[in-house]
Amino acid sequence: MSKVVSREIHLTSRPDGMPVPENFKLVEKTLGPGEDEVLVRNLYMSIDPAMRPPLSNGQTPLDEPMGGGAIGKVVDSDNESYPVGCYVQHRFGFREYYLSKGDDLQVVKPEGEPLTTHLHILGGTGLTAYGGLLVTGELKDGENVFVSAAAGAVGSVVGQIARIKGCRVAGSCGSDEKVEYLLDELGFDYAFNYKTCSIAKELHIGLPEGIDVYFENVGGKHLDAACGQMRPLGRIPVCGMVSAYNNKGARSEGVTTLSNMIYNRVTMKGFVVYEFAHLRDQFLSDMRQWMSEGKIKYRETIMQGIDQAPLALIGLLGGENTGKMLVQLAEDN
Ligand SMILES: NC(=O)c1ccc[n+]([C@@H]2O[C@H](COP(=O)([O-])OP(=O)(O)OC[C@H]3O[C@@H](n4cnc5c(N)ncnc54)[C@H](OP(=O)(O)O)[C@@H]3O)[C@@H](O)[C@H]2O)c1
Repeated sequence: MSKVVSREIHLTSRPDGMPVPENFKLVEKTLGPGEDEVLVRNLYMSIDPAMRPPLSNGQTPLDEPMGGGAIGKVVDSDNESYPVGCYVQHRFGFREYYLSKGDDLQVVKPEGEPLTTHLHILGGTGLTAYGGLLVTGELKDGENVFVSAAAGAVGSVVGQIARIKGCRVAGSCGSDEKVEYLLDELGFDYAFNYKTCSIAKELHIGLPEGIDVYFENVGGKHLDAACGQMRPLGRIPVCGMVSAYNNKGARSEGVTTLSNMIYNRVTMKGFVVYEFAHLRDQFLSDMRQWMSEGKIKYRETIMQGIDQAPLALIGLLGGENTGKMLVQLAEDN
């Protein structure tokens, strides 16, 4: 096996508030593959809001390569389970190459769909939306659904699944262009820009009968507004609270409307995508079917090159993405 030079992103200082490029450093490393090892050239990596809190709470180590979902191609191998040319998925993004013993790789076999979809709509993002809405949210056909961060990776899938189930769907997002995308391209019944309006007023207009399921991606003011308008036996599957991730301890803004949960017997329940691993086959079959019927669409925001990875994370937290935020690390050739 020959040696390669790989560039990788290290966290060098802990951000206070929104991360800045100076919190990160691009470092060059030479990798020399050894016996039984597999050398993966990373092609695409995922950028996720959940990467933010560990930058400040100590979970992401300083001066080491950061981690995160990625898909790559095997370019050198001493392991017959991962021959040269096969695609693999793993948790070691933020670097151009990854050297593995094979035990932390998962083979990806695209069935005609773009490779990138395995990092979102056919991967963890899609499963998060599917399980969070149908299992934790216990969605029933024809209900009234509100989803926040609706033009993002998870939110856009949530809204479309709810539409497939005959629900009335309202979504919030951070720009007028995203509002147009939700209404015109994804078929939402109602959408609004939370930066320029009152969330509570918009919810009264968009879902006048109240909310049966609020798919919570944001927290703070969104939860405050939605919780006050939950219908009897409503459910709030808590997926994430991105508005809090830049705050110390990822603390969200206060919520004043929780008393509405009492007589309306509202359930609020957190979940993590790993709980839905057993649904994977059913999820993939449903999602592929819906995509082939044109009922589920997606967008990607793709930044180019390892040096852009910190800016991609900062951009995601600032709402620069529509759909899934990815970084392309190499051409697939
Ligand atoms: N529980 C799980 O297993 C699980 C798995 C995956 C993701 N998640 C959670 O799901 C949520 C969405 O994740 P994603 O990967 O799909 O990301 P995403 O929605 O594609 O990107 C994050 C979006 O959050 C919005 N945002 C940022 N700051 C905000 C604020 N202060 N108020 C309102 N919106 C804000 C931005 O859109 P705007 O332009 O609309 O502001 C941005 O585009 C996150 O909370 C994430 O942590 C949870």
